[in-house]
Amino acid sequence: MDMRGKTAFITGGASGIGLAIAQRCAAEGMTLLLADIEEGALARAAEDLRAGGASVVTYRLDVADLDRYRDVAAQVIADHGAPYLLVNNAGIAWKAPASAATPEDWRWTISVNVLGLGYGISLFVPAMIASGAQGYVLNTASITGLIVSPGGSAVYSASKHAVVAISETLAHELRPLGLHVAVLCPGSVATNITDADRNLPDHVGHDALTSAAAEERAFTRSFVDNGITPAAVADQAFAALAERRSYVVTHPEYRDEIATRHRQIEAAVRGEPASDVALLALAKQILNLQPLT
Ligand code: NAI
Repeated sequence: MDMRGKTAFITGGASGIGLAIAQRCAAEGMTLLLADIEEGALARAAEDLRAGGASVVTYRLDVADLDRYRDVAAQVIADHGAPYLLVNNAGIAWKAPASAATPEDWRWTISVNVLGLGYGISLFVPAMIASGAQGYVLNTASITGLIVSPGGSAVYSASKHAVVAISETLAHELRPLGLHVAVLCPGSVATNITDADRNLPDHVGHDALTSAAAEERAFTRSFVDNGITPAAVADQAFAALAERRSYVVTHPEYRDEIATRHRQIEAAVRGEPASDVALLALAKQILNLQPLT
């Protein structure tokens, strides 16, 4: 996989996993087209990357703002052509149980994590196909795109299941054209995701969201802070792209939970009742690995 001199458009590129992917792209000799909602962090990320010798262009972008995204995509394609690597990574995590989620929990999470990702595909993939370059799409989902947590991440989990479904479908569509699609499904990664509400749009007040108790937030923070490094995630993502693998599951400790869930679905297909024992064990295992981001 020779990425030298090619372009990478990365959303959420100012922090965490997106920034680590940008650093990895820079190491591969790519031109970085970094998009993020957070202007200060974006400028600092670009400065650091340039200090390391990278070529970087920044775009202030809220991926949920379709009008702005149209303008950014048109500018990117006019100035640089279609990206060779499209990384739909920008995302937020907000804990909201299905039975108590507010309409704004749904709107904010789905508009960034699902619509923002969909817009990226709509606005870039046709140009990537037309360019004839057999490039790559990397979408950031989560381990909660493969299993569900009984601990209250219903809205987030729904958004990440959507990312997995979109990625699988897109992979099938693009494979005959020579483009490869991979989907990142990490467990905890030490990033700034616990403070996702720093990017809450002005029109959404905190009062409109499900609020987490201070101690619950502190627990989530310590869990996330003890996660693997974003650089390790970026390395695994690049290995998957090089080997043309589609799923990037960075946390093998969730293997039993994934298998148990699938066995329950297979049993249902055979018309067998779900095993309460297995489902309870699954819930318990996942709660022990909580919180899922
Ligand atoms: P982060 O908070 O460090 O980075 C997210 C970046 O996205 C930030 O730079 C933020 O400004 C940007 N962003 C947020 N909303 C945006 C919007 N509307 N438009 C454009 N940019 C926006 O968090 P992290 O962890 O690096 O998150 C990246 C992705 O990884 C997300 O999709 C998240 O759901 C996913 N993820 C994170 C995990 C973790 O444990 N950190 C685990 C599984 C998935």
